[in-house]
Amino acid sequence: MNSEISKQYFDRAMKVLVEGCSSASRGPMNYAPYPAYIREGKGARLWDVDGNEYIDWQLSFGCLPLGHAHPKIVEIVQEKVAGGTHFATALEVEVETAELMVDMLPHVDKVRFANTGTEACMTGVRMARGITGKRKVLKFEGHYHGWYDGLLVSSNPQPVTTLGHPNDPVRIPDSSGLTPGSWEDTLVCVWNDADALERMLKTHGHEIACVVMEGAMSNMGVIPPKPGYLQQVQEMCRAHDVLFYLDETVTGFRVAPGGAAELYGLQPDIVTYGKALGQGFPVAAIAGPDHIMESIEYGKVLHYGSHNAPRLGLYAAKTMLEEMRRDNNAGWTRLNQIGEEVTQRLNQVARDCGQNMRVQNVGSMFHPVFTDLEQISGYRDFCQHVDLAKYGRFSSLMREQGVFFTGNRILHNLSCTAHTQADIDRTIEAAGTALEQLS
Ligand SMILES: Cc1ncc(COP(=O)(O)O)c(C=O)c1O
Repeated sequence: MNSEISKQYFDRAMKVLVEGCSSASRGPMNYAPYPAYIREGKGARLWDVDGNEYIDWQLSFGCLPLGHAHPKIVEIVQEKVAGGTHFATALEVEVETAELMVDMLPHVDKVRFANTGTEACMTGVRMARGITGKRKVLKFEGHYHGWYDGLLVSSNPQPVTTLGHPNDPVRIPDSSGLTPGSWEDTLVCVWNDADALERMLKTHGHEIACVVMEGAMSNMGVIPPKPGYLQQVQEMCRAHDVLFYLDETVTGFRVAPGGAAELYGLQPDIVTYGKALGQGFPVAAIAGPDHIMESIEYGKVLHYGSHNAPRLGLYAAKTMLEEMRRDNNAGWTRLNQIGEEVTQRLNQVARDCGQNMRVQNVGSMFHPVFTDLEQISGYRDFCQHVDLAKYGRFSSLMREQGVFFTGNRILHNLSCTAHTQADIDRTIEAAGTALEQLS
């Protein structure tokens, strides 16, 4: 694959951009020796500056349920951009999008729009503290909730020897520049283990404002919750008078119309959305029942933002929701069908090649990991038993064949409604070749 022009951009970029791009996960750390500079996308396809074409399974980290440049999104954005981009006033489209969301989410009475998942999570935690008057927040090993200081603990894979006893995980800050005070009130628990949470809640429940979690662990590949686990978490939270905060930044409007809450039958107290909601525009939301959401009224718990409720983004969000809901939620049926088929066939091709690749999924979110375990059911399994370097080589071999699997070893891949049967077949064929080459 010729990448001469990407190389030239990279050389220029290194003079003016840190790592040649705008996030560590997009640069040479995951795409050595330099990333492909992407020029445009359409449907499930990407083209880079050298003219190479890719079937895209990274899809902006899950932000594109309809794929790139869906005709209805292009049409609405082109129409509305001529009327102005942002007024920082109340908007008709803000009301219409919130109405749609409330209609789709039985656990939600009200919505507040933000821009990114990080901001939404920061607000969710602040609301929990404001409402309960309690200081501590409980998060889980391996769960990522954005890069807000208070939640930036134990989100990355680490050598298993550094993690401590599962009853009392060592809290590992994910960055320099964090003061111990920023995560002093953040407790860390092992996920997918109801007994571990019960122990923590018995000891600390009186000082915990909320338990915050992803519905499926999606920043260590894809690790589904054990059957019944999330319901147990919800019940334990209620029993200990702790708010149950489901971070649906990844799962929201992706794994089901009502996200992980619908898929697993949950009634969370606080929910946050992002990624898929904006269909490629930065739109996020904090949502919940009235008695929770009233906490941000008049800045009692403060939530501000010049760019909140971006006009074009909301038109994209509203159009995406309408499109996905057509024909009895056919959009989600399609996303899930593709995710299931790719998962099963990748697993089959791995068996056929005698490779230790296992693909786990929750609907449209899937991820291949190289492991000798039958299944990865938690963060500690992931840290100890997953060969991240091998995934790096595999994903690079896929991209060389024009199949864009994320180079980020701990994230996941996803389907969009624009993937065709031919895209799936081509992907499976490329995986066979890549696995043969790995052998
Ligand atoms: C579960 C979860 N919450 C929050 C975030 C942060 O969202 P953003 O990158 O939009 O700030 C992410 C991002 O990957 C996420 O996976």
